[in-house]
Amino acid sequence: MKTPRPGPSPNSPAAAAQEADIDRSDLAYRRWLSEAVAKVQADANRSADTHLLSVPLPADWGVDLYLKDESTHPTGSLKHRLARSLFLYALCNGWIRPGRPVIEASSGSTAVSEAYFARLIGVPFVAVMARGTVRAKVDLIEFQGGRCHLVDDPSEVYGTAARLARETGGHYMDQFTYAERATDWRGNNNIAESIFRQMSAERYPVPTWIVATAGTGGTSATLARYVRYAQATTGICVADPENSAFFAGWRDDDPAVTTGTASRIEGIGRQRVEPSFVPNAIDRMMRVPDAASVASVHVLERLLGRRAGASTGTGLWAAFRIISEMRESGERGSVVGLLCDPGERYVEKYYSDRWLAVQGLDITPYLERLDAFLGTGSLSGPEPIRDR
Ligand SMILES: Cc1ncc(COP(=O)(O)O)c(C=O)c1O
Repeated sequence: MKTPRPGPSPNSPAAAAQEADIDRSDLAYRRWLSEAVAKVQADANRSADTHLLSVPLPADWGVDLYLKDESTHPTGSLKHRLARSLFLYALCNGWIRPGRPVIEASSGSTAVSEAYFARLIGVPFVAVMARGTVRAKVDLIEFQGGRCHLVDDPSEVYGTAARLARETGGHYMDQFTYAERATDWRGNNNIAESIFRQMSAERYPVPTWIVATAGTGGTSATLARYVRYAQATTGICVADPENSAFFAGWRDDDPAVTTGTASRIEGIGRQRVEPSFVPNAIDRMMRVPDAASVASVHVLERLLGRRAGASTGTGLWAAFRIISEMRESGERGSVVGLLCDPGERYVEKYYSDRWLAVQGLDITPYLERLDAFLGTGSLSGPEPIRDR
């Protein structure tokens, strides 16, 4: 029930005289909203920053590699930051209402984090995802009290989420549109500001390159805007997997590019150039074969004793390529990548020989090249990629 502010009754002669004055204020809703915003802010207040891990490489290479470990957020991925920003943005825009569901199209990680925030403020949550999404993510969403609506065609997630929101009176969060603008890119401990602060005591404190990957494009937009705003010389490279539209869209300056097949690298690589991708702020893009992405996370496990999802491998392969180039040209400096989410979610995919065989992914040649790289500092490439 709407609780109006005290004032003339809407049917009183006084109200009728105020011809074009419509007061929609609802104090009960505003109290609910204040409590919801306070809960999200208190959650941020309880949270610690994520670690910037140093990846051991021979010191005499003169190039240092770091990974921002976003898997340690309460909901296990870099999407925790985004979900918090999206909830605050939607709450303050008046888009989320008490008792009404929040609906999202997701490849899983965002939905896990959004289910957490939906529960925190006490609204229902529905994730619309492709049927091929790993079971572990469905379990995590349900664990957080969310519901999963699976669709056969991955390109249907957007339309289905919008329809479910219309039918239920809920709110379609639409991370693919709003990720770039919901995030406070100038600072406020965003991922970029945190990286620069954590790098400040290193031997090469201003990274030569930061390598990101793109799902919504939001993370790369925040990084790219921040380095420009901070007047840093750091280049932002986006590594893109097979079957993703971002690379061709960026290369050809064509936001209408689409692909016919979904990405196998969960969380990144989209069949269309998402509205949150900000191409003009990106300095460089690199296409990475899926087998190279998977091989790279296997090598990361040897280097750090940690498993990560394959999107981390996509960025890592690109970082290794950049380090190899810097070695070749004698350039010294630092490169920062992202550890996006934990590998435990993907035991049945990227860490399964059976899944790799079914997909026809042979990671052995890439493992051999990575072994050679770790010995010599030289990684050959690039190589041709054929989309499926
Ligand atoms: C595991 C993982 N890595 C990387 C990304 C890329 O992040 P962004 O959506 O900010 O482009 C995503 C996005 O969904 C993801 O789920």
